Amino acid sequence: SEPLKIGIAGLGTVGAALVHVLVSRYALLAEACGRPIEIVAVSARDRERNRGIDLRAMTWFDDPIELAKTGEIDVFVELIGGAADPALSAVEAALSRGIHVVTANKALLAKHGVRLAALAEEKGVLLNFEAAVAGGIPVIKAMRESLTGNRVSRLYGIMNGTANYILTTMEREGLSFEACLKEAQRLGYAEADPTFDIEGNDTAHKLAILTSLAFGTEIAADDIYLEGISNISIDDICAADDLGYRIKLLGVAQRTDSGIEQRVHPTMVPKDSVIGRVDGVTNAVAIESDVLGELIMSGPGAGGDATASAVMGDIADIAKSRPGIQHGPALGKPAAKLVPYKRAK
Ligand code: HSE
Repeated sequence: SEPLKIGIAGLGTVGAALVHVLVSRYALLAEACGRPIEIVAVSARDRERNRGIDLRAMTWFDDPIELAKTGEIDVFVELIGGAADPALSAVEAALSRGIHVVTANKALLAKHGVRLAALAEEKGVLLNFEAAVAGGIPVIKAMRESLTGNRVSRLYGIMNGTANYILTTMEREGLSFEACLKEAQRLGYAEADPTFDIEGNDTAHKLAILTSLAFGTEIAADDIYLEGISNISIDDICAADDLGYRIKLLGVAQRTDSGIEQRVHPTMVPKDSVIGRVDGVTNAVAIESDVLGELIMSGPGAGGDATASAVMGDIADIAKSRPGIQHGPALGKPAAKLVPYKRAK
């Protein structure tokens, strides 16, 4: 049957891993989806860079916006990153032309997600973004599909692999903050600007997206109370350890009497709790809802393969679905009110 033709914009850690898995699993995916998935075009800044992947069968675009506009593709995969152009214009161009979009770009969704989701709905195409939150953990699918009908009271979790890698590696290896951050960058976990990881902005982007899906709020990442981990020392980690706790950078959203409260800050969690046992680049998200109870999912939260796996799943969903069918509620159908977090004295 007809192949699903995709174009990939951005060939960094995630993009290169995605090309690799889609090419090496061509037959497996074709079998699973009932049709093959073909990468027909790619775009990146540097054509010459050696990424260890063979791009000869794909049309090259220097400009991702031109790739998004090509009539050749059914799905535009945006792995450029950043809330601004070219990512924004490229995604808008694809959706406007009725092309499905798969993105891992949490910064983009945190800023423009509501508008982009509305555009996708208007055009009858899918905007899939499982990889944007907590890497390979299927938390968007859980929220949109499995928890339908539940009323969520609280969600929280470790949503930044780099920060958790730094905190746990400082603890285990006794290395300095800077050395751990360098290693997280070398392993391909960190953002292009790693202050987003360590100051909590990346967690805030992801939390804002989850809050919107869980509670039906606007996406308001900029209004989230934010405290990162750059001031956490080995002494802090040891003091917490003596008391039976570990320090984790958490994103938290909960229902209060006046509205939905969101916050991101380092938190002492009991060592023997599920969240307290999460090590390295692993993320964990807990969701408390009335029918199901407490759901906790953990898994790889960053890195090329983990993120590519989630993107691959989103592409496969499109390959399997009939065009124009939305899997779940769109982002940003405001039904609840956000309120500021008031810090306890
Ligand atoms: N820099 C992010 C992290 C990548 O470390 O979690 C995954 O979104």
